[in-house]
Amino acid sequence: MKNGRHGVGIAGLGLIARTHATAYRANADRVDLVAVCDADPEVAERFGDEFGCRSYTAYSDLIADPEVDALDLILPHFLHKQAALDVIAAGKHLLLEKPVAPNYPDSVEIYRRARESAGSFMVAENTRYIAAYRVVADLLAQGAIGDVIHVRTQLRSNEKLHLSQAGNWRTKYELGGGLLLDTGAHSFYLLAWLLGEVAELRAVGRKVFPLPNPIEDTAEVTGLLKSGAHFSCMFTSVSEAPHSERLELYGSTGVILMDQAQEPVVRLFAGDHDYLGRAIDGAPFALDAWHPGGWHFESVLVEVEDFIGSLAEGREPEIDSRDAVYAIGVVDAAYRSIRSDQSLIDLRGFSREDI
Ligand SMILES: NC(=O)c1ccc[n+]([C@@H]2O[C@H](COP(=O)([O-])OP(=O)(O)OC[C@H]3O[C@@H](n4cnc5c(N)ncnc54)[C@H](O)[C@@H]3O)[C@@H](O)[C@H]2O)c1
Repeated sequence: MKNGRHGVGIAGLGLIARTHATAYRANADRVDLVAVCDADPEVAERFGDEFGCRSYTAYSDLIADPEVDALDLILPHFLHKQAALDVIAAGKHLLLEKPVAPNYPDSVEIYRRARESAGSFMVAENTRYIAAYRVVADLLAQGAIGDVIHVRTQLRSNEKLHLSQAGNWRTKYELGGGLLLDTGAHSFYLLAWLLGEVAELRAVGRKVFPLPNPIEDTAEVTGLLKSGAHFSCMFTSVSEAPHSERLELYGSTGVILMDQAQEPVVRLFAGDHDYLGRAIDGAPFALDAWHPGGWHFESVLVEVEDFIGSLAEGREPEIDSRDAVYAIGVVDAAYRSIRSDQSLIDLRGFSREDI
């Protein structure tokens, strides 16, 4: 630490890294972005120049940098486990992009080792910080729709470019590719955070857009939560609409409809004669998710600020990272269902408490 500020290093300088770096720069009174790292030397150098910090091409050098107290890992999925365990072994603080790791056992190992170490640990699961979901969480806490009996989620993205690039890690299961791993991590975290654990599920994964790789581009996971609510989660990575998310919550006394592609983003209905419903404030409409003002960009800013605050104030972050680990257990179960002809997977014996 220098002048009471933690030094941060970012490893992996793809699309989302600039948003993380922007958050560190905006909080320069509490944190110093001292170094960045990317396997591509040009990318590393350019990024380092832009943000006025050192650059490395090997993340081991970033971890070894004595001015780096905290690591922000934004790496391809197949690197998450080793890089995270190296950071933890070095006793440094860790912000780890979702999914925790490509499978549940590795995710649990990272979580447990991190909890035993002196450094703090947080999963960068931006779902927890999306304004619209926070509004919905408040409505649920107020009992605005009674008991939730049915929930539907949708995650609509477009990964056609990455999935067209031969050699891109997203096109190979062995490198952590997979729509359900990438985006199921978000939706199953959302269910765990808002509504609790899954009792049973069945999953379908399909490839509906012809690209030269085996990765599913469309998936549906349905089942029951332990609360008794029915759930249905839809995923696509070949959507020709702006990246957006939707959540429908059907309760015993009302309904919440949230959709990032509609204005108002969150609407609350109180019965089948409530034709207009009520627009709920606090979730600004901005369809360009990835740029300043966009719902996704802003969620990542708030997420990284929570990490910074947790370091500066010595407190836990708002997110319970165990829920992000649990979500990978649900992802694993969904793949088990897909690979066994959509069989029903019983998760009643699977609990966050065991992590
Ligand atoms: N929260 C979100 O909504 C969100 C959005 C995008 C990405 N992500 C996550 O961020 C992570 C990275 O995804 P991405 O889309 O930016 O991937 P990407 O492939 O676009 O970028 C990864 C970067 O890591 C670099 N890299 C590869 N191997 C490296 C190594 N050994 N050492 C250092 N750098 C290395 C690559 O050169 C590349 O610049 C993933 O975990 C992904 O799920 C999260």
